[in-house]
Amino acid sequence: MSEPQPGAQPFATVPVALGDRSYPIHIGSGLLGWLGGEIARHTKATRAAVVTVPMVGRRYAGRLLRSLWEAGLEARRIGVRDGDAHKNLREVARLYEALLDFGADRATVVVALGGGTVGDLAGFAAATLLRGLPFVQVPTTLLAMVDASVGGKVGVNLPRGKNLVGAFHQPRLVGIDIDTLASLPVRERAAGLAEVVKAGALWDAAFFEQLERNAESVLRLEPEALLPTLERACAIKAQIVAEDEREAGRRMLLNLGHTLAHAIETLYRYRRILHGEAVAMGMVFAARRSEALGLCPPGVAGRVETLLRRLGLPTELPHFPRRAYLSALRVDKKRRDARIQFVALRAIGRAETVPLTPAEILPAGD
Ligand SMILES: NC(=O)c1ccc[n+]([C@@H]2O[C@H](COP(=O)([O-])OP(=O)(O)OC[C@H]3O[C@@H](n4cnc5c(N)ncnc54)[C@H](O)[C@@H]3O)[C@@H](O)[C@H]2O)c1
Ligand SMILES: [Zn+2]
Repeated sequence: MSEPQPGAQPFATVPVALGDRSYPIHIGSGLLGWLGGEIARHTKATRAAVVTVPMVGRRYAGRLLRSLWEAGLEARRIGVRDGDAHKNLREVARLYEALLDFGADRATVVVALGGGTVGDLAGFAAATLLRGLPFVQVPTTLLAMVDASVGGKVGVNLPRGKNLVGAFHQPRLVGIDIDTLASLPVRERAAGLAEVVKAGALWDAAFFEQLERNAESVLRLEPEALLPTLERACAIKAQIVAEDEREAGRRMLLNLGHTLAHAIETLYRYRRILHGEAVAMGMVFAARRSEALGLCPPGVAGRVETLLRRLGLPTELPHFPRRAYLSALRVDKKRRDARIQFVALRAIGRAETVPLTPAEILPAGD
């Protein structure tokens, strides 16, 4: 990967069109040193709290803080605990205290520097403290770059379930610096790419074909392959979110592969398996099911599976009994046959929701 150049310009800027809450997603190399001025310009803030976890802060907070200082902001790093297990209300309360100790007011921007966990936690604190502070996302995992940091959903877990408390709080801008990916474990990298494959599979056949041509280069983080891939993946999510900010219709298509993924994560109790890995398995399942139901031509599932495998992702459902899957699929525990909006593929690049019961999603004998 190239040396970070202070002041480097973005390779691309993807607009997210949400009326007066529209914002840019800047994508490039060496952007940490450039973002300070951009944050100052976009938020008019006088203070910036850079919220991060030790793993990420140690490596990248310095560069970002320096560029914020150079832009004239008073900037401080605020540490939060790492991991989804700490994405909870107790950590939010600690973060509120730290922000208030820093003197946070409406002219203070909360900058999330880290993966989706930090983005969700810091974003939720920003959405709620003093009824809302300006917020900026600086994602440092592939998953956060293409998924969690785009769309404005923020929130935390409750003991009884994931992401049960939350808000919509759009960032003022998103700054993606691919240099930060150099330290990301390869397993996390691949897991993030599952959501990239998903974007192509459900929305854009040409993009899917491009991934079929350069999957290995993207996995190796070669900038010529990675930068346009991130640009297109962000643009797809941005377009879907712009059309359906509150998830009334189209945004549901982003759940491709997620019905089974959530069941798998529940069965594993969220241990041992990464979200993107579960999504990869769920997507292959959804594609095969779409073929079996005659919704898409044969061959589609094979292409999805081959591409995911080349990225080092698992594609077969783990062996749990069918009844365990069925009960994990039953979101509405009182109505056993309540239908689920299952996202099916009609072709590579085209998806639609089909209401199916859990037993129809997972027929006996399959
Ligand atoms: N808001 C949304 O729309 C949305 C969408 C998808 C997922 N999410 C949420 O995102 C979270 C998952 O995000 P994630 O996959 O980014 O996981 P994560 O934030 O937990 O990061 C994974 C691990 O990688 C480390 N890490 C992060 N960046 C690194 C880097 N550059 N180098 C080395 N290590 C690094 C983190 O410290 C962490 O240990 C979940 O809580 C999920 O619910 C939210
Ligand atoms: Zn997902």
